[in-house]
Amino acid sequence: MTALKNDLILRTLRGEATERTPVWMMRQAGRYLPEYMALRAKYGFFERCQTPELACEITLQPVDIVGVDAAILFSDILVVPQAMGMEVQLIESKGPLLPEPIHTKKDLERIVVPDVQDRLHYVFDAIRLIKQELNGRVPLIGFAGAPWTLLCYMVQGKGSKTFDEAKAFCYQQPELAHQLLQMITDTTIAYMKEQIAAGADMVQIFDSWGGLLSPEDFETFSLQYIRQIVAALKDLAPTIIFAKGAWFALEEMAATGAHGLGIDWCIKPQLARQFAGDKVTLQGNFDPARLLSPITEIRASVKRMLEAFGPGRHIANLGHGILPNVPVDHARAFVDAVKEFSVQ
Ligand code: CP3
Repeated sequence: MTALKNDLILRTLRGEATERTPVWMMRQAGRYLPEYMALRAKYGFFERCQTPELACEITLQPVDIVGVDAAILFSDILVVPQAMGMEVQLIESKGPLLPEPIHTKKDLERIVVPDVQDRLHYVFDAIRLIKQELNGRVPLIGFAGAPWTLLCYMVQGKGSKTFDEAKAFCYQQPELAHQLLQMITDTTIAYMKEQIAAGADMVQIFDSWGGLLSPEDFETFSLQYIRQIVAALKDLAPTIIFAKGAWFALEEMAATGAHGLGIDWCIKPQLARQFAGDKVTLQGNFDPARLLSPITEIRASVKRMLEAFGPGRHIANLGHGILPNVPVDHARAFVDAVKEFSVQ
């Protein structure tokens, strides 16, 4: 395999000194890029995920266009529920729809822990192709959804601000919930191991809805499963946990042995560092909506963010995914400002 020409992120995750702060953006391969929209007009969402050549092209777009220090596989967290036997649709301007959500013991009987080589081979094929096409320019990030966040979609059946039905399922039928969470966990471990075997240089676990839980419920329904995933992966590749809104669990997440922890814009970097301790890399935490500011202000706030994190053990990123209405030159200004202002 070709040696990496830019391994800033991997070194930062291992706690090694780097020339500058590395940068990438969550959901960097997406709708703010006209080049993505051109492919989106021609192919369906899961067709893009399932066709290695398309997934590869989309994955490389932000590397070429905005100059980020890592590529993230173009796919979705919902390919895992799909592989476990659920139908998943993506409805234009509405988001994900799972028409037959899980509510009962009988519903759970439809769910399997699949052979990931069989059901998700297209992801591993895409990873191998992307690694070849990247030719060592930057590392490739593999990913999966955290079990709690996947349960949210599998039970609620669609996006939600509160995921109240998913919570009700956990609180009213905890045995079923834990059975499902364990099945997702087992699938995810096998899936991410294969991503790494196919060439992913590091992996990120997205717990987008972790912050909807109380600290106690986060431990019960989310962290104990994330802990199993991190334990299975962390010696194979650097692992980042991004649990949006779950700043209250930074100490416990650091204790999993994950190399990196993502934080959103609702916590000060200094406070996150106090909670997380010195042995983990922090990733974040620019407010994605701030990319809608004029470029001069984006640059000034990036500078302040870098100063707040201080040198080392920081990967600059957004605090959540980039919004579709962000102008490309604003995204590029964010990336350039990190490169320009980072102090080591
Ligand atoms: O980050 C990347 O660029 C890589 C690809 C990626 C996608 N989804 C592509 C995508 C990643 C890492 C994800 C993760 C994902 N998917 C999460 C976790 C991160 C987060 O944002 O909280 C979640 C919750 C999903 C579920 C999902 N997929 C939703 C809610 C939606 C609908 C709208 C949206 O963009 O939020 C999707 C569709 C989706 N996944 C799109 C993309 C580029 C938009 C598809 C389109 O309309 O073209």
